[in-house]
Amino acid sequence: TEKYADEIESVLLSEETLHERIAEMGATIGAKYADTDQEVVLICVLKGAAIFVSDFARALPIPSEMEFMAVSSYGSSTSSSGVVRILKDLDRDIADRDVIIVEDIIDSGLTLSWLMRNLKTRNPRSLEIVTLLRKPDAVKADLDILEIGFDIPNEFVVGYGLDFAERYRDLPYIGRLHPRMYS
Ligand code: PRP
Ligand code: MN
Ligand code: MG
Repeated sequence: TEKYADEIESVLLSEETLHERIAEMGATIGAKYADTDQEVVLICVLKGAAIFVSDFARALPIPSEMEFMAVSSYGSSTSSSGVVRILKDLDRDIADRDVIIVEDIIDSGLTLSWLMRNLKTRNPRSLEIVTLLRKPDAVKADLDILEIGFDIPNEFVVGYGLDFAERYRDLPYIGRLHPRMYS
């Protein structure tokens, strides 16, 4: 029997849908950086983006380096407050590098607004955002996004890196969490 089967209401994005779109995203982004003279630095925002970055990096037709950063917003686990602190910083200097922040989802956009401001002070040559998912509220944050996998409705989704109380990151697809799991 399938993992978490009775906790997921329905599938929003199947494994195959994700795979196909990420292949496209890799090709699109790869073409944009085709003429760069150095490897692109992917910054994976832990933990949610860990699964996406591993598939995205392999879908990119150009070489990339992978770096990890962990941030945490204060306040409740289901809504962001805008106050962010660094739990794990980058290991390397990104000055004069072509950097892409890789995120699983932009909801309020507060995490990425803060991260963009923080990383800009380190003087990368370029700094872009690639996200797998974007929710409607993200428009308020006014972020410049290089590539978005899917615009999704304002529903509680989990899987493929996205958690609810640290569960479901290991689901291979993105699904709607059954309301009884959080009410
Ligand atoms: C989630 C998600 C994004 C962020 C989006 O991370 O992975 O990083 O929230 O929300 P925002 O646009 O409203 O800021 P979370 O803080 O839950 O940590 P996690 O990645 O470790 O699950
Ligand atoms: Mn996250
Ligand atoms: Mg989370």
